[in-house]
Amino acid sequence: MSNNIRKIAVLTSGGDAPGMNAAIRSVVRTCAYHKVECVGIYRGYQGMIEGDFKEMNARSVNNIINRGGTILKSARSMDFRTPEGREKAYRHLRDHNIDAFVVIGGDGSFTGAMIFSESFDFPVMGIPGTIDNDIYGTSFTLGYDTALNTVVEAIDKIRDTAISHNRLFFVEVMGRDAGHIALNTGVGAGAEEILIPEENLGLERLLESMERSRLSGKSSSIVVVAEGDKIGKSVFELKEYVEDNLPDYDVRVTVLGHIQRGGRPTCFDRVLASRMGVKAVESLLEGKSNYMVGLAKDEIILTPLDQAVKGKSEINRELLRVSDIMTT
Ligand code: F6P
Repeated sequence: MSNNIRKIAVLTSGGDAPGMNAAIRSVVRTCAYHKVECVGIYRGYQGMIEGDFKEMNARSVNNIINRGGTILKSARSMDFRTPEGREKAYRHLRDHNIDAFVVIGGDGSFTGAMIFSESFDFPVMGIPGTIDNDIYGTSFTLGYDTALNTVVEAIDKIRDTAISHNRLFFVEVMGRDAGHIALNTGVGAGAEEILIPEENLGLERLLESMERSRLSGKSSSIVVVAEGDKIGKSVFELKEYVEDNLPDYDVRVTVLGHIQRGGRPTCFDRVLASRMGVKAVESLLEGKSNYMVGLAKDEIILTPLDQAVKGKSEINRELLRVSDIMTT
């Protein structure tokens, strides 16, 4: 391991995700294991600009592996997008003798890390933490698995009341511009239809699908709608549209919202976070920089940050086909 890096900082940035605490814990404990100092930065890049730092050791991260959210708090910083903001952040890092940082966040956070690293020749490493799973270079982002389980549990409950009242429910889930959460939870919860931005079903086909479902003997239905779906209507307008065109249906809407971002991380997310933290710190100690750690075929791999930012995380076409067959 390299001797150049003696102190590593860790921060969480962008939307929080279950598993971020487990990743912080892993970074801090890997530093302790290798006898490297570790500093936590509060409130993401904004805290870096304001010097909101705290020395951390193996005991600072006791009992957080099971906790949702992030003990370091998170923020989306506009100031870090300016050269002046990044300059201030750099001065604080130098004043604290910090040699490298690990940022846990999404693609916006990685873009910031890349620009920073290039401007100041500063070693950085990214850990993908977002419930959206929309990052190239990893088959799972931290928090995604937990969010899937939260959503499926909620839809199971909605299903109970939908059956009791013979209703159609539109359930809107998060995911920003990506349909990963919707597609996976739609299949997992046995939805009658799934609307995702990557596949524009169209209003006509949605009506046909609902009618087919009713004529085949189903008396209640769940349609999972990704928040970024481009069918052209909000989920509430969709409800009105279906009610206007299929008056036999009694329709309700549930927007799951930020409930999807909280909660205790699943075992999968905790283990993934632990593996990613070790890889991020050890890669920095080996002299590597400007990479994101990711999971591919159960191996922890590195992808250059610019590829992680520019690349597109494709929707699983095989799962799309499975969903078509299951909604027959
Ligand atoms: O990126 C995570 C995410 O939860 C998206 O799914 C959603 O579009 C967005 O963040 C919501 O952001 P905010 O918490 O700032 O409203």
